[in-house]
Amino acid sequence: MKFTALTAVAALLMAPAAYAEADDESLVINGDLEITTHTDAPAHLDGHLDEIYSGWHFRDDETQAMEADDFDNPAMIFVDQARDMWTTPEGSEGKSCADCHGAPEDMAAVRPVYPKWNEDAGEVRTMQMQMNDCRTNRMGADAWKTDAKDALNMEALMSSVARGQPVNVAIDGPAQSVWEQGKELYYTRTGILDLSCASCHEENYGNRIRSDHLSQGQINGFPAYRLKNAGLNGVQGRFKGCVRDTRAETFSPGSPEFIALELYVASRGNGLSVEGPSVRN
Ligand code: HEC
Ligand code: HEC
Repeated sequence: MKFTALTAVAALLMAPAAYAEADDESLVINGDLEITTHTDAPAHLDGHLDEIYSGWHFRDDETQAMEADDFDNPAMIFVDQARDMWTTPEGSEGKSCADCHGAPEDMAAVRPVYPKWNEDAGEVRTMQMQMNDCRTNRMGADAWKTDAKDALNMEALMSSVARGQPVNVAIDGPAQSVWEQGKELYYTRTGILDLSCASCHEENYGNRIRSDHLSQGQINGFPAYRLKNAGLNGVQGRFKGCVRDTRAETFSPGSPEFIALELYVASRGNGLSVEGPSVRN
């Protein structure tokens, strides 16, 4: 088993011997918003990682620079679209997000703690699930599909107002069993290549794979604007793409498996700043 996996990774890696570290630049947005892109790993990663890095460290200088100034960050146009949506009434109740929540900036404490256990519903909710709960149960509007454009725009707005704050996802209490499920998925090898998320993002981050520079696969920068498809990309859509690359069967965005995985991966970034919407290749 182990041998097969190592062979598969070795075959994918361009220079397995040369361990290229994350760079040591620092990210300051708009000249004054300091972003923690590198810090000590949370305690639950003991024995796995000592330090955690945002994916920003693994991008080239030009892509990094786009994120340092909101005028250059192509994702900010979607944040502006979401600001309009925030104040626009929708659904049978004639209500807008603003009617109940005030300004988007009043939501600054929300992004860092999601996904989060919802006591009344008895489930772990991603931010998109929570927004859909507001839409269907409080506005009388249709739910957004997971990672649909409007959902990602709104999530980008919720992230942008929280930028700079430390990710602080709770993994104990009632969320723990879901977290354990996500952890198991993270370390399970699948597909013809017999790879887990950890094979690439824990054991080989810093290395080059095909033409890409492998990061730790953190999600503090999501939603992420990708130059590749010139649009916002959601966490679970990204998971799907990564699993597909291992030639494995994949779960769907919105599935219980991906909700658990999102909770777990978010918790691997506890201590990094919320950085979304980020720019990636
Ligand atoms: C009629 C009032 C109402 C409207 C309209 C509404 N919400 Fe909510 N929203 C709430 C309430 C109440 C909660 C707390 C729910 C809970 O904790 O179970 C909430 C919770 C949230 C949360 C999570 C907050 C947290 O601290 O965990 C987010 C994010 C959110 N709403 C986004 C939105 C968005 C985006 C819209 C518009 C598309 C919207 N809401 C429209 C009432 C509303
Ligand atoms: C074959 C190697 C490989 C495997 C296995 C893999 N990924 Fe990835 N992943 C990549 C590459 C390459 C990228 C793009 C460069 C980067 O950010 O690492 C990427 C990017 C990501 C990103 C975006 C990071 C950012 O900052 O934008 C996330 C999140 C991610 N992966 C999560 C996962 C998860 C969760 C799994 C397991 C379900 C997984 N990946 C499995 C190769 C892999």
